[in-house]
Order: sequence, then C-alpha cells, then structure tokens
Amino acid sequence: MSDWVRVADAGDVPEGELRSYTVGNRTVAVANVGGDLQAFDDTCTHHGCSLSEGELDGTVVECPCHGGRFDVITGEVVAGPPAEPVDVFEVVEADGEIRIRARDTD
Ligand code: FES
Repeated sequence: MSDWVRVADAGDVPEGELRSYTVGNRTVAVANVGGDLQAFDDTCTHHGCSLSEGELDGTVVECPCHGGRFDVITGEVVAGPPAEPVDVFEVVEADGEIRIRARDTD
C-alpha cells in the first residue's frame, strides 16, 4: 500500500537546498535540483547520518559524516564509503503542496 503524503508547502525547499520530512516510518530528504524536487531516504546507508544535513552539489549529496556521495535522482552510490544505495521516493509539487509517496518498509 502507498499513499501520497503532504509534507510541506510548495516552495519550502529552495533551489540547491535540502530538507527532511517524516513520511510514515521513514525520514525522507528532499533536494531541489535546478527547480526539480528529488526525494530519497535521509538515512545514509553507511552509518546512518542524516543526508539532508550534508551538501548538495548538482545531483549529488555528500554525507556530512564520512563524505559518502549519492546520486539524489537514482539513489546510487557515487563515492564511498557507503556500499548500498539509498531508496528514492516519488515527489510532486501540486495544489500548493509538496507531496511524497509513502511506501511500506521492512
Ligand atoms: S554515515 Fe554517511 S558516509 Fe558514513
């Protein structure tokens, strides 16, 4: 089962910045890449640091703890030490809201 969840007002994630929101039992990071929103799991797969507290460089987020880098569109690891990708989520801006599609998790 999955549902769209309102997490913020449209425009709450400025271009080039990151925010995080609780969606079900997950913390989801939202990045604004050139005006397009991308949503991905906020929890780094290395040692669990918050990726939304890292730096966004184009489509890549750098973890603040050990410098691991992930592609925010695909969730894939761009640079270690993380070995596993992060999950990505569907996100839309509609009717003045940012909405993320929640997913059941393990
Ligand atoms: S916790 Fe993210 S790189 Fe180590």
